[in-house]
Amino acid sequence: MDALNGWLERSPRLAGLLDDHLRNLTAPKVLLAFLAVFASSRVLAYFRNLKIMNYVPGLRPLFHPLWFPGAFLPSTWWNMGIRYPWNNRTTLYKRFRSEVISLVPLISGDPSFYTNNLDVARQVIVGGHKTSFVKPEYASRILLLWGMNLLAADGEMWRKHRRILGPAFSNKLYEYVWNESVQTFKEMVSNDGWSNKKSIDVPVLQRTTFKFALFIIGKCGFGFPFVWSEPPTAPDGTMTIQEALRLTTDAFLTMIMVPKWVFKLPIKSLRKLQAARDQLTDFMQSQVEEKRKDLRNGMSVRDDVFTRLVQANENEESKYRLSDEELVSSLCFVQLGKQIGNVFIMLFAGHETTAHTLAATIGFMAYFAEIQEEVHEHIVSVIGRSHDPTWDDFSKLDKVTAVFLESLRLFPSGHVMIREAREDTVLNIPGSDGDEGTRTIPIVKGTQVVVDMIGVQYNPRYFDEPEKFKPSRWHGVPAESEAFTAFSVGPRACLGRKFGMTEAIAFLTMLMREWRVEPLLSVGETKEQWRERVLDAELVITLGVSDMPVRFVKRD
Ligand code: HEM
Ligand SMILES: *[C@@H]1O[C@H](CO)[C@@H](O)[C@H](O)[C@H]1NC(C)=O
Ligand SMILES: *[C@@H]1O[C@H](CO)[C@@H](O)[C@H](O)[C@H]1NC(C)=O
Repeated sequence: MDALNGWLERSPRLAGLLDDHLRNLTAPKVLLAFLAVFASSRVLAYFRNLKIMNYVPGLRPLFHPLWFPGAFLPSTWWNMGIRYPWNNRTTLYKRFRSEVISLVPLISGDPSFYTNNLDVARQVIVGGHKTSFVKPEYASRILLLWGMNLLAADGEMWRKHRRILGPAFSNKLYEYVWNESVQTFKEMVSNDGWSNKKSIDVPVLQRTTFKFALFIIGKCGFGFPFVWSEPPTAPDGTMTIQEALRLTTDAFLTMIMVPKWVFKLPIKSLRKLQAARDQLTDFMQSQVEEKRKDLRNGMSVRDDVFTRLVQANENEESKYRLSDEELVSSLCFVQLGKQIGNVFIMLFAGHETTAHTLAATIGFMAYFAEIQEEVHEHIVSVIGRSHDPTWDDFSKLDKVTAVFLESLRLFPSGHVMIREAREDTVLNIPGSDGDEGTRTIPIVKGTQVVVDMIGVQYNPRYFDEPEKFKPSRWHGVPAESEAFTAFSVGPRACLGRKFGMTEAIAFLTMLMREWRVEPLLSVGETKEQWRERVLDAELVITLGVSDMPVRFVKRD
């Protein structure tokens, strides 16, 4: 364009002619001209991108499946959509005979490499300042993908945050999580009226698992005073904090994507969200104030995630200090371009994934009755029929752990991990089974690499019959084993892995000891149809199963 302008300035006569010509154009013609310019610029960009991607074979969709608008449109023949890697989980990489494929969109989104290979994943998911790959800011800021990055746009920031939070994740915390999970389960049974029933129909199991997981992260990670029986609205008509949290985390995507002023429009559901957000912000601010006061007065406080966040904020000398912004103010986590507060990230990351996986696990138990019986007997043999299980029992309940891990493998709730090359570098790609040698592809600065977690978990290189539910693969495998990869791998892997497993194993143990779970079929539905309907993925920010209808039957 600059070149054209320069040229026109130097040739006034021609510019005049062009001017006349333009004046004669009608609106549709102008539009057409724009379209033609746009189309040719896209075509040029497309060929440039193919070159950048080294002509690695792969997909050539109109829109990137993780970007506007592709991510929000259904997966159909003209749009990959966010479901594509799920729909094609057993065929995608086979079709291209490679564990790294390229994705070059024609209209919107950056070209990316997609991989289902762990060696490649390990090259891009690394922490620290030496790495060539970073989490792109947009991945944590805007949509879908994993807000959870400990605010780490670069390696140094990530280290700082991980160092602040890491020590809170100790055995002492896990024991507390275990205790609270057992107590909360009991509270649920007595408050939700399960105690005197022989069977309970639960149309959407996720309502329970989400409430449970939010409860545990709120209580154990933040020390929030949650009570299971508390109704969603207080007597004075204001919603409770639990309810406000529930509403805002459910509408997380809306809250991040939609500009603030929209919430001021007279639309009831948006107004309600706004009220929830306001209440939550007030609540968080008062919690921070209180914690600050306690810390300043030298009171003894629980060493949890929240305390550490506030402490880091207090400690001005420390080079790991968080700004107020980093801590909570961005709790109003709205506008594009603003980071989401660490507090909120931890609340969100700390419950969505676990809650989804719990629902999937219980769904698999309902479907595979025999495996369920085996797990039930295992539970009774480890903890008996009447005592509350203790934290010491966690490591002995390996068959419960196995069904949880296998469900998470088949429905990896963290379904994508995105990294961007911050300098020119290379990726080493191991050869497929037949050929030994490693290939190297150059990676240009700014190129994205997407670790397709669904692809990894369904990769036959790592699992035989990967699409089958076989919890026995995890029998005798320690809970921390690197063989289990759905919490990511390496130094940057999930910080809450043991936290999430602890609460999940406690919940499943309590549930399956006393209750048998069955599919809750709709009228005329077979068990097989139930499986197809329910044990299917829903993908948004995290991946889960569809609304899960089950029946709990009390065991004698
Ligand atoms: C089934 C449960 C969970 C799954 C499948 C899961 C999965 C993951 C994955 C795949 C990552 C890496 C994301 C990336 O690198 O882009 C991650 C990171 C993280 N997770 Fe989890 N997670 C779970 C539970 C939790 C819980 C309960 C907490 C908190 C209590 C938590 C806190 C975090 C944090 C803070 C990070 C960022 C770590 C870092 O950047 O160093 N997660 N998780
Ligand atoms: C992906 O799945 C769709 C159906 O969901 C199918 O039509 C398409 O051929 C698949 N593509 C690949 C590469 O396997
Ligand atoms: C967990 O419960 C056990 C037994 O009730 C108790 O001895 C222990 O101190 C509790 N631990 C924590 C961290 O709450």
